[in-house]
Amino acid sequence: MWVRDDVCGLGPYQADLVETYWRWEQDPASLIGYGRQQPESLEARTEGIAHQLRGDNIRFTVYHLTDGTPEPVGVTTLLPDPSVRTAEYVVMLAPEARGMGLGTAATRLTLDYAFHITNLRMVWLKVLAPNKPAVRAYERAGFRTAGTLRQAGYWLGQVCDELLMDTLSSDFSPPSVISPLMP
Ligand SMILES: CC(C)(COP(=O)(O)OP(=O)(O)OC[C@H]1O[C@@H](n2cnc3c(N)ncnc32)[C@H](O)[C@@H]1OP(=O)(O)O)[C@@H](O)C(=O)NCCC(=O)NCCS
Repeated sequence: MWVRDDVCGLGPYQADLVETYWRWEQDPASLIGYGRQQPESLEARTEGIAHQLRGDNIRFTVYHLTDGTPEPVGVTTLLPDPSVRTAEYVVMLAPEARGMGLGTAATRLTLDYAFHITNLRMVWLKVLAPNKPAVRAYERAGFRTAGTLRQAGYWLGQVCDELLMDTLSSDFSPPSVISPLMP
């Protein structure tokens, strides 16, 4: 576990968890949340993770910590643009781990890492406007809406808007779990 708070931790993205990640990703609510329209085979996902592990994106496995043994429950990713020190943010939780505050906690820990270890200036994301739990979790973690892409996606067969959200390193409000690690 690299960084953690009382309920949630971030650790490495792992090839041996590929089937677990794939199961979470194929959940219908995940497909709708991401605007994906068809399932992916485990064989294709296994090929994809080899590519992901060699790439420059910053990926974490999210762990739930309250039950003694850390349980993998999700993935967060930062897709950096080094020329401007910004990154796009993506998150996905296991269906059974949603609605308990872990999306907010994992997003907050990832921003702490992004601003205090990776030294990013700004993190942004895109979210389909009807995805209310995601928007709420992002707001609670420090993002705010920067704009709307009209009719940019689909939600349950209906055209919908997509929100752009951003947060600056200067927006990050204490406490940080990383700052106290340094003298
Ligand atoms: C999006 C996701 C990461 C959020 O994580 P989570 O752990 O479920 O979120 P949290 O429990 O931290 O917060 C959800 C918030 O939304 C609120 N919420 C839930 N349903 C809601 C609704 N229909 N309308 C408004 N708010 C709602 C919750 O009450 C909570 O806010 P609160 O703590 O202020 O009460 C998770 O649901 C997920 O992985 N979804 C599938 C993939 C996905 O959609 N990813 C995002 C793509 S952009």
